[in-house]
Amino acid sequence: MHPVPIDELIAKPKVLVDLYVQLSDAKHVLIAKAGTSTSPEHLRKFKDKGVAYMYVRPEDFLSLVRQSISVAGMAVSNRAIDNLSKLSVIEEALSSVHREMAAIGVNEQVLGHAKLVTEATMTVVAGQPQLSALIEKFQNLSNDQSKHVMMVSMVAAMLGQGHEWIKAATLEKLALGGLLHDVGKMKLPGDIGTKDPARLGHDEQVIYRSHPELGRQLLSGIKGLPDDVLLMVYEHHEHSDGSGFPRGLKDFQISPLARVIALANGFADLVLDGGRTITERSARKAADEIEFRKAMLYNKDALRALRRLVDGEPLKKAA
Ligand SMILES: [Fe+2]
Repeated sequence: MHPVPIDELIAKPKVLVDLYVQLSDAKHVLIAKAGTSTSPEHLRKFKDKGVAYMYVRPEDFLSLVRQSISVAGMAVSNRAIDNLSKLSVIEEALSSVHREMAAIGVNEQVLGHAKLVTEATMTVVAGQPQLSALIEKFQNLSNDQSKHVMMVSMVAAMLGQGHEWIKAATLEKLALGGLLHDVGKMKLPGDIGTKDPARLGHDEQVIYRSHPELGRQLLSGIKGLPDDVLLMVYEHHEHSDGSGFPRGLKDFQISPLARVIALANGFADLVLDGGRTITERSARKAADEIEFRKAMLYNKDALRALRRLVDGEPLKKAA
């Protein structure tokens, strides 16, 4: 049985699969029949009793993931919905993909779903090139993990445009690298992957620093995944001055797209720090902090692209 947060089920008008609650590790009991008793009001009663997760059968789990992704696809192609309002459906689709990865591992099917989320992400980036407006909208999103990953993905694609890399295929690779960059954290033991890295002890730090390599291992061998994306996952914590990990590469040794993901990752960490309210000012403050205190860590062209984004310069459209 696979767990699904009850809040996500309540957000749907009707759930098209049977839902169970967990009594023990091995025992689940059917409490809502597909469609007939899965209205938000019915589910809210369970939430009021303290139920945080419902459980679904493995085959139904997949159809819920597909449902989230197709809702995101429909919302993204709907011109009546403004571009930034599409972020919350993309967030839901992305958290479904994360759950799918955690439940069944990473394979071609999961990668296919991640690519669909990337397409949706790119639609928003292409239609809304103002970084500050995009970032302000992030405060309405609820899932911290998805929020970080989506921001890295979108900011990386925008930085790519700022580099004037206007090939759509390159920007899509950046967005996909952003979505997958921390996938190796799934393999870290305990809660090391979810803790603030600055609060980890020495031994935990050593384990934490293995996540780029774990991510590369997870994704290598998956058909259809460009080598550039593997490098972005492997090198997203490398720093231009050689102080990063896992290999301590210098700027010229880091792959060009990974230099962009590294900056998008550092920027997203500063903007989203502590879940504080995100405003245009905090985007500018984060960019200033990077420029004045951390510039040595990042590639100079990527930093120039970030400054242009924060200053609101219009970006070139992808070709
Ligand atoms: Fe990371």
